[in-house]
Amino acid sequence: MTSHRDESDPTPLPGDALPPVSLAYANLLRDAVGADRGIDPGRLYPGGDLAEHFAGALDVFQERERAGELGFVALPADDGARKAVQEVADSFAQWFEDLVVVGIGGSSLGGRALADALLGTHWNEISAEDREHYPRLHFLENADPESVASLLRRIDPCRTLFNIVSKSGSTAETMALFLVLEEVVEAAVGAEKARGHFLFTTDPEEGVLRRLARERGIPALAIPPAVGGRFSVLSPVGLLPAAVVGVELEAFLGGAAEMLQRCRNPSLIENPAGILSTLLHAHDLELGQSIHVLMPYGDRLRSLALWFQQLWAESLGKARRTDGSPAGPTAGTGPTPLAALGAVDQHSLLQLFMEGPRDKVVLFLRVREPAASVPIPSRHPEEPALSYLGGHTLEALLEAERRATAEALRAAGRPSALLEVERMDARALGGIFMLFQVATVYAAALYDVNPLDQPGVEAGKRFAYGLLGRTGVEAPELLPEDAGGRRV
Ligand code: PA5
Repeated sequence: MTSHRDESDPTPLPGDALPPVSLAYANLLRDAVGADRGIDPGRLYPGGDLAEHFAGALDVFQERERAGELGFVALPADDGARKAVQEVADSFAQWFEDLVVVGIGGSSLGGRALADALLGTHWNEISAEDREHYPRLHFLENADPESVASLLRRIDPCRTLFNIVSKSGSTAETMALFLVLEEVVEAAVGAEKARGHFLFTTDPEEGVLRRLARERGIPALAIPPAVGGRFSVLSPVGLLPAAVVGVELEAFLGGAAEMLQRCRNPSLIENPAGILSTLLHAHDLELGQSIHVLMPYGDRLRSLALWFQQLWAESLGKARRTDGSPAGPTAGTGPTPLAALGAVDQHSLLQLFMEGPRDKVVLFLRVREPAASVPIPSRHPEEPALSYLGGHTLEALLEAERRATAEALRAAGRPSALLEVERMDARALGGIFMLFQVATVYAAALYDVNPLDQPGVEAGKRFAYGLLGRTGVEAPELLPEDAGGRRV
């Protein structure tokens, strides 16, 4: 007898093995949340309109790939880059006590997400022995004088390597931090030795960092020209900090390659990036659910949600369609991503998610086997508020909180989905990064925008250059923020 699977039911049949990263999406469908709040699953199957739209998005993806625009797709197979990174890490980078990664936006968020997800958020506080003598790892992103001063109090510049990450080599915050740090290191070790404390990750040909690297013999890793900042986590931008703390690059890139294969599947219902982008796009444009929340359960995954936030926002928030026409009559287009953290934000944002405007979709992220297990002791049997917890584990409590939240949302007609991994190891993480990046390119095709540019960011950068007097950039005229005495 052939068994027929309910098409909206992502539960594996007995004997099915879950892939390392899987997406359960039943709670985005109308059977779970109601006809006016969820999608008809029939539309995802061959002949359905969403399956057809996805086929169009897949064509756009393939065209962009053929045109050489999607550099991130080639990164898992780039053995040359992996070996170059490993060599730099093994030959000198990991012999420092501290590695400071200096960069902002796409030149920082991926590396930080990777490090937090695989090392946990307290790496720098654990003993050198527990770190197996791998360096401490710091990410300096903001031109915030307090953060710089505080970091300089915690590290010894004589034993620190500074990895300056900037694709353009011109971002004001990163370049200013470089100037500050260069002076600090020169003061500590002298001008000659200072260059041994720097590593650049930048464009292979262009920009001031590449020029300085050539002139001074500073090692420099290359970000391929077709790899934009927010799509760079699988390039030396993410690989270098990972390799320096002992992450297995082959497993990381292997996980990304496996996911890429799954995300190339022309059958929408078998394609995780296709399903994610198609459903989120449909929820936005058809049902007004334009706020896309990524809510991992586990502190080490908070940075991953921040990485997603940038990827989704900068790639999809656009004023113009791909043909250059305005994206909307009065405003641009694009969903608003929001990073949340379970279970912490159940006590903060969840009230809004449950009862506020019906404009959100929550994407939960769960690790089935967390890196640690903590049993809750059975104590105070006479106290009902305590006794029921005994005998469980903290991880079971966290999952019960997540499951309860998903069900409460569903019962209130509020859509959600679950991204699930068995263990948060290098392979699974590589898969997650690839899944979101491919989903972003598909989503951009569905919104009919270019995921690879960021004219809004560039405009802000130019205003800042003008204000600071960069040669060749006109200073903008500023309307006083308290014009007409508007200050109380
Ligand atoms: O994703 C992007 O393109 C941006 O967030 C950039 O990464 C960010 O502006 C930093 O740019 P750069 O690497 O050129 O210093």
